[in-house]
Amino acid sequence: MAGKTKLPDDLLIDKRKGLPEALKFLFADYPRDIWRKHKNMGELTTFWLSRHDQFRRAATTLNANNQAFLEGQIDPKTFSHNMVPGFNALLGGLTEHHTMEDHHYFPKFRVVEPKLARGFEILDEDHHALHAAIENVAQTANNFMQSEGRDNLLRTGDKFVDANAKLLAFLMRHLEDEEDLIVPILLDRSEATVMGQGH
Ligand SMILES: [Fe+2]
Ligand SMILES: [Fe+2]
Repeated sequence: MAGKTKLPDDLLIDKRKGLPEALKFLFADYPRDIWRKHKNMGELTTFWLSRHDQFRRAATTLNANNQAFLEGQIDPKTFSHNMVPGFNALLGGLTEHHTMEDHHYFPKFRVVEPKLARGFEILDEDHHALHAAIENVAQTANNFMQSEGRDNLLRTGDKFVDANAKLLAFLMRHLEDEEDLIVPILLDRSEATVMGQGH
């Protein structure tokens, strides 16, 4: 983050309601309802979109478990024990996914469509915000799992659930905006052209 131009608040992940209009000129030609049947919809884009859907489902399931815990349907010990595998899978998957995007994909997209460079600054900043949110979830999860006694478990569990709800909201915002920025580029230029840029 150091050395980069700071984005205005209304473009940050916790304030934004979608991509700014200035970055939607390609999206206007490639709205979501034509993506799946477009002739340039390729294997890589299909795989990438399905990975996003897996993240959405995993985060939604975790949040539903959290809600059940908040409502007293799962006791704290069971909740603490059951949440770990799904949570670790989501965090590990997201970290790997963002690394690929930051180092392998985004540089190519920036070259192909320089007028959308601001969009990649937003997505890059989102990745930092998501990682801070992930660390917060991991920290609150650790506090929760190390708590003793029902009152402490309930208190630290609430904090964990709040942190997780924030991560889910961030993730949903990021995935939607990222797709709205990137899929139109891939459909407009084709995967072969885009992926052939740089290395
Ligand atoms: Fe991303
Ligand atoms: Fe992504």
